[in-house]
Amino acid sequence: MHLVAPSVLSANFANLQADIEMINSSKADWFHVDVMDGVFVPNISFGFPVIKVLQKLAKKPLDVHLMIVDPDRYVQAFKEVGAEILTVHYEACTHLHRSIENIKNSGMKAGVALNPHTSINVLEDIIVDIDLVCMMSVNPGFGGQKFIENTYEKVEKLKHMIAAKNAKTLIEIDGGVDLNNYQKLVKAGANVLVAGNTVFSSNNPSEAISALKAI
Ligand code: DX5
Ligand code: ZN
Repeated sequence: MHLVAPSVLSANFANLQADIEMINSSKADWFHVDVMDGVFVPNISFGFPVIKVLQKLAKKPLDVHLMIVDPDRYVQAFKEVGAEILTVHYEACTHLHRSIENIKNSGMKAGVALNPHTSINVLEDIIVDIDLVCMMSVNPGFGGQKFIENTYEKVEKLKHMIAAKNAKTLIEIDGGVDLNNYQKLVKAGANVLVAGNTVFSSNNPSEAISALKAI
């Protein structure tokens, strides 16, 4: 059964509590939390004060996606505000193995995100150490963008790599996931679906989450 992680980036920040409670009582599995620094990506989202609100109110794991340069500096700080899964970008880490070890030693699950242009092959020598691969199916930085079709092929290749290496890594898809493509993604091997726009632009966000959970 695949997991669904609504992206808080698309929530209503004027009433975040209501959206957090909606996710708590929905069929969602995780909260997807997008942190952007305006350097690694051309947008700035939110930081620790907002994540502390999630830590206080969310009843499901916080899946934190760091779109920031030099993420090693903040690993401990994200642990302290309640991250259960901490994902860094391959493109932002010179010493990826060390970053992964730091995250795991801090007591979190370690994720690695790949930009659309980055081949999955770069993970071959580290896949067994990674708990989750966040495959970007849009260029990171904004919600509500168009899904990149090449993602299906990447998911299949990654799934084969994971099986060949006997790894337990989860495949997460992030960007442009909707009710027309989610089933094909699950069939290709996706384990976790992130959804911002599809959930929060719906008239009934909780039903949209249920729809994304349906097989
Ligand atoms: C994009 C973020 C995504 C985003 C997804 O940089 O990493 O998590 O919130 O939003 P949708 O589902 O609207 O593409
Ligand atoms: Zn994300």
